Amino acid sequence: MPSTLLPPLGRKPLSETDLQFRDDVLKGLNSPTRAIPSKYFYDRQGSLLFDQICELQEYYPTRTETAIMKHSARMIAACIGTNSRLVEYGSGSSLKTRILLDQVIELDSYLPIDISREHLHTTASNLATEYPNHVIQPIVGDFTKPINLPKTSSAQTKTCIYFPGSTIGNFTHDEASDLLHAMRTTAGERGSLLIGFDLHKDKDVLEAAYNDRKGVTARFNLNLLSRINRELDAQIEVANFEHKAIFNEQVGRIEMRLRSLCNQSIRVEDQFFHINEGDEILTEYSHKYTVEGFTTMADEAGWSCRAAWYDPQRYFAVMYLEA
Ligand code: SAH
Ligand code: AVI
Repeated sequence: MPSTLLPPLGRKPLSETDLQFRDDVLKGLNSPTRAIPSKYFYDRQGSLLFDQICELQEYYPTRTETAIMKHSARMIAACIGTNSRLVEYGSGSSLKTRILLDQVIELDSYLPIDISREHLHTTASNLATEYPNHVIQPIVGDFTKPINLPKTSSAQTKTCIYFPGSTIGNFTHDEASDLLHAMRTTAGERGSLLIGFDLHKDKDVLEAAYNDRKGVTARFNLNLLSRINRELDAQIEVANFEHKAIFNEQVGRIEMRLRSLCNQSIRVEDQFFHINEGDEILTEYSHKYTVEGFTTMADEAGWSCRAAWYDPQRYFAVMYLEA
């Protein structure tokens, strides 16, 4: 009798990206200061929740940066120039990028890079419809790892890295410095960087932005646990955790955590973690900069500031730098 090979029972094997997610979650939960990298917020659900955060009354960064971009669009477009390709790190819904795509007519191409696969594909396909005259080339990937950009279409094409949204703030100073160095290498000798970063301000304004009344930021933070349950072999009672975000004045950053509401045990794969009431898992830093502090860090990474734009309240900065 011929034998029939049946597929193994149980969960489907994890891809390389899933394995990295599993390893980072287990490493983070095993470390004495429990922490999970903030890049894992962004699955399909997390990207949608981030878009909702951007609409919140308390979350000033998005509307402030958008206003700066709209107000100075011509000048910013003149800095980028013609014959440049725009490479966006952590492009999300590419909302602010549309301001640039409207202004820079002779752009070589636009390459949005994002870790959130489905969201990137949806955004890129919408952009291709809205901007039939621009070449849109999405890249799914983690920009903290080496990035292999496609070859430029001609030797004259320059690379402008676009890094809006104050995503740089989600990295520690050492990580941010490493990232700026890596961007300098990726952009090349004639490359440039257009970056948006959040500035120091009143603690109340900052804490309100990360503790909105509608609870969207809380859902965004807690979605990380739901994602672990969805994608890994895990058992976490999400309702046993609460969102917490405080401004650490000494370091100048918002720290977002998930706080346990009771003594509990959670399971990820074959590992159990006992968590006491009040214990916390760090999920995100959001550093706030001074213009001087940022310029010095960028300078050390090989970037020279050529122009900067601000809102009237000086809540946020958009800076153009050259290699
Ligand atoms: N640039 C957009 C979105 C900012 S939210 C804006 O200004 O509104 C941060 C984005 O970066 C998300 O879309 C997230 O999926 C992406 N992201 C975060 N960490 C990443 C990483 N390590 N590599 C690639 N994308 C990342
Ligand atoms: C993407 N990043 C810059 C946001 C921030 O403000 O740090 C993510 C975010 N976290 C909570 N609200 C928004």
